[in-house]
Amino acid sequence: MSVVVIGCGDVGQRLAARYRAIGQPVTGIVRTAESAAALAPAGVQALTLDLDREAPPAGLLDGAVVHYHAPPPREGTREPRLQRLLAGARSAPPARLVYISTSAVYGDCQGRWIDETAPLTPRTDRGRRRLDAEHQLAAFAEATGAEVVVLRVPGIYGPGRLPVARLQAGTPLVLPAQCPPTNRIHADDLAGACLAAAQHGRAGRAYNVSDGNPTSMTDYFLQVADLLGLPRPPLVTLAEARQHLSPMLMSFLEESKRLDNTRLREELGLLLRYPTLADGLPSCLL
Ligand SMILES: NC(=O)c1ccc[n+]([C@@H]2O[C@H](COP(=O)([O-])OP(=O)(O)OC[C@H]3O[C@@H](n4cnc5c(N)ncnc54)[C@H](OP(=O)(O)O)[C@@H]3O)[C@@H](O)[C@H]2O)c1
Repeated sequence: MSVVVIGCGDVGQRLAARYRAIGQPVTGIVRTAESAAALAPAGVQALTLDLDREAPPAGLLDGAVVHYHAPPPREGTREPRLQRLLAGARSAPPARLVYISTSAVYGDCQGRWIDETAPLTPRTDRGRRRLDAEHQLAAFAEATGAEVVVLRVPGIYGPGRLPVARLQAGTPLVLPAQCPPTNRIHADDLAGACLAAAQHGRAGRAYNVSDGNPTSMTDYFLQVADLLGLPRPPLVTLAEARQHLSPMLMSFLEESKRLDNTRLREELGLLLRYPTLADGLPSCLL
């Protein structure tokens, strides 16, 4: 078996370390030479190519387990990078393709608990691009017989990815009573979910990959501020927040859901190392 991680960045490198621990070599695709250089010390064979212009070489994905972690472009409602890759792989498809999608495909669920059978009604282009990707993958699986597993992922946190700059800038937070629930996953647990999906995921299935303990964005930022010893930012109403926050952050506040992770735990058998922020945040300082 060969394993290829397309977009071998933070989560991809954590995943590669898990494969290394079981003696499985990994090829990692990145866009820039700088990122390729960072893969060698991690024991990953690097390949540099830009999915905006080219597909991986013929044969590389043939019969492989492929993890797709490259993000879509920042604009539009389609996913042309994945489309290019799938077109190139049609005659020699991977055996299995595990795709990192986003929980934004569900749109706004007004804070309800939702599982993977919830309707897919994205409200943002970020969510629409990922839904387009999920549709492309389903069509590819149908046409080629490749097994596709989709992971729907909310906010990722972990070492090196805490919102330090924003806390240092003192950008206000929304009052807890007006701040809806959002979901998170530690980057290491996400890497574990990627491996579990490759090994045990059912073909054609989607899995919510969240820690199962949603809290508000305000709660998250306050816990991070306390952890780092930074001042707690001022609290404002949701209406006032619109003047301070980026459209991306506002979209997180205006789309609220609680992700049910039963399928992740019971079907993929993932034992979460960091089921709450209290479990996971201290690891970010190591
Ligand atoms: N941040 C979140 O909270 C969140 C939430 C849900 C889902 N996700 C998704 O989770 C996935 C993994 O996240 P991550 O943190 O591991 O991402 P990351 O560290 O930013 O890594 C992304 C990788 O994709 C590569 N890449 C980007 N554009 C490419 C292109 N045009 N052609 C080839 N390679 C390209 C990058 O290469 P270079 O370094 O050379 O550019 C990098 O290796 C991403 O798809 C992300 O969008 C993130």
